[in-house]
Amino acid sequence: MIRTNAKFPKKFLWGAATSAHQVEGGTHNQWTVWELENARAMAMKAEYHISDMPKWDDIKDYARQPANYVSAHASDHYRRYKEDFDIAKKLHMNAFRFSVEWSRIEPEEGVWDIEAIEHYRTYISELKKRELEPVMTLFHFTLPVWFSEKGGFEKRSNVKYFERFAEKVVQELGHGVRYIVTINEPTIYVYQSYMQGAWPPAKQNKLQGVHVLNNLIYAHKLAAAAIRDLSSDYLVSIAQSSVYIYAGDDSVLSSISASVLQYITDDYVLKRVVKHCDYLGVNYYYSARVFGYRIHNPEEHLSDLGWEVSPANLQFALERLYDKYNKPILITENGIADADDDLRKWWLQQSVVAMKLAMQRGVDLIGYLHWSLLDNFEWAYGKWPRFGLVEVNYRTMERKVRPSAKWFGTVIAKLRQ
Ligand code: BGC
Repeated sequence: MIRTNAKFPKKFLWGAATSAHQVEGGTHNQWTVWELENARAMAMKAEYHISDMPKWDDIKDYARQPANYVSAHASDHYRRYKEDFDIAKKLHMNAFRFSVEWSRIEPEEGVWDIEAIEHYRTYISELKKRELEPVMTLFHFTLPVWFSEKGGFEKRSNVKYFERFAEKVVQELGHGVRYIVTINEPTIYVYQSYMQGAWPPAKQNKLQGVHVLNNLIYAHKLAAAAIRDLSSDYLVSIAQSSVYIYAGDDSVLSSISASVLQYITDDYVLKRVVKHCDYLGVNYYYSARVFGYRIHNPEEHLSDLGWEVSPANLQFALERLYDKYNKPILITENGIADADDDLRKWWLQQSVVAMKLAMQRGVDLIGYLHWSLLDNFEWAYGKWPRFGLVEVNYRTMERKVRPSAKWFGTVIAKLRQ
């Protein structure tokens, strides 16, 4: 259905997204352990692994240092969150996505840390004070060390620990929260941790990967049911990393390959969780154009991570997901690594137009959360990729709003009128 007058609704959520380990600093989880064990080797191998990055000359000094691969103080958001919320507010945002760090809340099996719970309680109330709608994630790639030593999500019998954590968090912190993301990007977690071996536990075992993926799907179902038992007012979803995949010509092979790839990256998980979601959380970063069984993208722009970026295709990703699953969509992440802030404004412009066009075609879109508010720890790449609307000086922790963000703030203000 084409709605020519589609406008961003008054209650549309405009905001930014973060995750605990990437911004908070001072976390202790399976990632922290892995970073300390691997930082030196990663720094030594940087030249070999990533010297083909578009801005290698600018990043090589960082990328060759072990400190780049250790999250340590990250962006110091655990202490500076009020300052960060003030910035979001000044940019006219009305929503904010964050994750609660399981390893802080349950540092040992069955032991709840009251101070950590209290911290997040205040955190959420500070968001509410500024009229920033909290979007709370329960699992964003990091696990308590005790849980990962038990085998993490490799064992179906461990899923009950996540269910218990989800229930506890929502009991303790759910007051004032409506939007909950149970699991961030299950497919990416499995791909990086169990297939590529790039993230802890750094395994390369496809069969085991599929098993973990099925356990994550099961974990979402159990957590969603436990949350709904507490109240039917909660709106629950996963955040799915959605790549828009399309055939580059009209050959049968291209179209079959595109569908198979789309199924593997997106639909395998979505088909299984959709009945247990109130909305769909979608993270969009790039597309893939398929010729035969090869990907060859037409894009001219590269992000600092070498991703061929196509923000305009967000429109088609949204239309596809809405046609197929018929659920309201919340964009839970969307952004670009761009240290010089050369492309971010263009990215944001294209994304806003893409959302508008998708809405005109009937997509029920409820919000847009940019990745990220702050520069942060980009997992195995460490600290050099800069995704923030706000630049963070990792030495002084000083925040500086990037020009693209200032511009975006004025756009949000207009679109919210
Ligand atoms: C993840 C974030 C990550 C971002 C950029 C998403 O896959 O949820 O944690 O920083 O993409 O790579």
